[in-house]
Amino acid sequence: MESLSARLGMRLPIIQGPFGGGLSTVKLAATVTNAGGMGSFGAHLLEPDEIIRTTEAIRTETQGSFVMNLWVDSGDEKSGETDAETFVRAATELAPFYQKNHITPPEYASGNSIHFERQVEAILRARPPVFSFVFGIPSKDILSECRRRDILTMGAATTLDEALAIEAAGVDIILATGFEAGGHRPSFLRPAADSLHGTLALVRQVVASVKVPVIAAGGIADAQGVAAAMVLGASAVQIGTAFLACEESGAHPLHKQKLFHPAARQTRLSDRVSGRLARFIATPALDDLERLNQTHLGYPLQGELTRPLKSIDSGLFYAGQGAPLLRHHRAADLTLALAAAISHTAPP
Ligand SMILES: Cc1cc2nc3c(=O)[nH]c(=O)nc-3n(C[C@H](O)[C@H](O)[C@H](O)COP(=O)(O)O)c2cc1C
Repeated sequence: MESLSARLGMRLPIIQGPFGGGLSTVKLAATVTNAGGMGSFGAHLLEPDEIIRTTEAIRTETQGSFVMNLWVDSGDEKSGETDAETFVRAATELAPFYQKNHITPPEYASGNSIHFERQVEAILRARPPVFSFVFGIPSKDILSECRRRDILTMGAATTLDEALAIEAAGVDIILATGFEAGGHRPSFLRPAADSLHGTLALVRQVVASVKVPVIAAGGIADAQGVAAAMVLGASAVQIGTAFLACEESGAHPLHKQKLFHPAARQTRLSDRVSGRLARFIATPALDDLERLNQTHLGYPLQGELTRPLKSIDSGLFYAGQGAPLLRHHRAADLTLALAAAISHTAPP
């Protein structure tokens, strides 16, 4: 059977993980693909026309494979039910936080502008080589339309049950993502807090239980980590934090600096920044946010409370547990270094 790497035209089994919220860039995705791995772009906050433009932009920068990524759902029920009064109460709780950062409290923004169904139509039109998704499984119709259009599909699992559900739905590739990972815990069968499996345990269980190729993610940040994932039976790895720290990513320069700082040795999961559980550097600012914020609004409305803090040094930094291993500042160097401990022949 043709290996996954061969099918995707990857010389190296290294996938740069997608980043939502403006942190992905065309340059980062294309650089990783051109270096022999495969780049991704997190599109879950993009409008359909932006998805099409971005896919085209990556295509002009590389002839190789790349991934466009969406979040399958459009928001928590709790968030949809939040009224202006509740939002103002939550913003008032955070007043000391805004004051400290010289920020005007955000205003209530009702409704949710993210529409997965419209975004996925754009993916189908743009036809990226791979469509990856988190927080659920797209409908049967969407998956068969992807197959018809030669778009490979990749779904994220945080538990063995999720991996089995993804395989049963006919998805081509499973991403097994352990709780060490940076970014959100994209659980969809049970609450994320009840689905915290480590990469070592999860990847092995999934590989032993499914027939489709498995990609390992979470806490992998150097060549030895990549080699270990391959020994577990993964067909490739997906790496986020180490690529986020590279100059080609869209992260704020201060965020990149923090990822290399000893402060990043301590990370923890919190649902107070976006409304959903995600991993951050454990900073006094994160402590303050959790102490002050009593009214949890759910995703995405909770994210409106912290959005004004994103572009400044507010002390809220996404990071995975692999951060202390980071050494590289350029994506091409990182891609090559990650593959250094494994044979360059195509993996199983
Ligand atoms: C800031 C940040 C944003 C992320 N956004 C997304 C996203 O929108 N979609 C997605 O599938 N994965 C997202 N991820 C997960 C990464 O693509 C990748 O799977 C994960 O970071 C791997 O773990 P590592 O950080 O330990 O390498 C994000 C990760 C980070 C750090």
